[in-house]
Amino acid sequence: DGPAGRAADLAGRRVLVSAGGTREPLDPVRYLGNRSSGKQGVALAAAAADRGAEVTLVAASTDVPAPVGVEVVRVETALELQAEMTARAPQADVVVMAAAVADFRPAEYADAKIKKTHDPADPDAAPTIRLVRNPDILAGLVAGRGAATAPLIVGFAAETGDASGSVLEHGRAKLERKGCDLLVVNEVGVGKTFGQDTNMVHVLSRDGAAPVPAGPASKREIADTIWDVVGPRLVSA
Ligand code: CTP
Ligand code: CA
Repeated sequence: DGPAGRAADLAGRRVLVSAGGTREPLDPVRYLGNRSSGKQGVALAAAAADRGAEVTLVAASTDVPAPVGVEVVRVETALELQAEMTARAPQADVVVMAAAVADFRPAEYADAKIKKTHDPADPDAAPTIRLVRNPDILAGLVAGRGAATAPLIVGFAAETGDASGSVLEHGRAKLERKGCDLLVVNEVGVGKTFGQDTNMVHVLSRDGAAPVPAGPASKREIADTIWDVVGPRLVSA
């Protein structure tokens, strides 16, 4: 058994996990980023390695060190993350997109540091930053798989309930829209999830199985529950 008391049920499996928040540069010293700590994705990579998998972690910005026994590929932007995930997914048995991918990036990158102007006639002058859409990496991985059933593809969604639906309803709609096999939905809000060590999620499945709740528990325990759901769905080796 591994440290969590589970058998090496992922032995021989190739696992590809993305984690952390992408950073979209404006100039050599500035970027647009997000509050993802990367903790849940890193915990998933560590748990999979402990259960015998061969793990590659494609890591954008994270607050936590990469686990030992895991191959780590560092990226900064959504476009870099897309290139690494797209190249590696065909060799994987399962792909987990736990990274917080910026939906938008600055339309222009300035090669030199953006400076204030010093025009006495317009002392409050400020630039306007135009944004463009980043590609949807997860949807691209699903489309690139074509009719094949491998790799199994797992998405993440951070949702808040609102007037148009509950957290689970938004999650179900996102699962359909993305076309992935499983979607891990976590509830976010002030003080919830971002940077915290505990998490509460529901694992939604497209195969009609009931949502599997997990937590509140440590991100490591949540990770093990996610692998418990993934394991039996992997095509036999
Ligand atoms: N994702 C991705 N590429 C993007 C944005 C998101 O691959 N450009 C992935 C995330 O890694 C996650 C899943 O898609 O696994 C859902 O991310 P989320 O931000 O919740 O979904 P969006 O489609 O961006 O929808 P929203 O407008 O609610 O942010
Ligand atoms: Ca998004």
